[in-house]
Amino acid sequence: MVLKNKYSLNMKNDNPITEMSPVVGGLLRIHKIISRGLNISIRKCDEYVGNQGIPSEEAIGFSMYLSTLKWVTHSHHLSEDDIVFPYFKDYIDAPYNRLKDDHNDMARILDALDQRLLEVSAGGIGKLREVLDEFDKLWGPHIKIEEENFTAEKLQGVIGMKEQATLAEKLGEHSTKNAGPGPLALPFLFYNLEGKDREAFMKPIPWIAKKVLVPIIWRSQWKPMSPFLL
Ligand SMILES: [Fe+2]
Ligand SMILES: [Fe+2]
Repeated sequence: MVLKNKYSLNMKNDNPITEMSPVVGGLLRIHKIISRGLNISIRKCDEYVGNQGIPSEEAIGFSMYLSTLKWVTHSHHLSEDDIVFPYFKDYIDAPYNRLKDDHNDMARILDALDQRLLEVSAGGIGKLREVLDEFDKLWGPHIKIEEENFTAEKLQGVIGMKEQATLAEKLGEHSTKNAGPGPLALPFLFYNLEGKDREAFMKPIPWIAKKVLVPIIWRSQWKPMSPFLL
């Protein structure tokens, strides 16, 4: 195991710190994706409640967006439970038990969310909003703990850059395996980010997926979600 980062000296000083840590960069980006997904869903619920219902042309896309949000969150938590936490435990102090308990609590909320999705078009938006609120209350403080404890600076002191790159790759593979159907998960991941974040997220994704599958072959499948995407 390489304990000191040999590569940092070769990197430009003006690089943002997260770019020097692929693991932390990945963590921050997936948190951003889920946070946006959650915010948009809550905002949309409020809009629908105010308008006394969901327009029929948005109902399918909204369910699809929420169900993909559920899959992506579930997959993110699995990668943390299976890979990130066991790996970090030896090097970084953090309230791992609390984080795992939060994951379990959120898993229950995500199941409830799934149930609510069945009623979306039948005017169950108010109940859905309540479930999303519960999710939101846990999510904010949870990622705050992770982001304060798992910083690029801390990681760099204990895990070498090569090892971080391998870990980031492993995390990428693990999450695409568990994030639900690719035709929905990949566009959800790409288009809940923008600018440099989207660019960085898409960089390691195979060319065929980002240039052909998502924008062309799978487009008709995820198109109903587009009103909620960037
Ligand atoms: Fe987490
Ligand atoms: Fe996380």
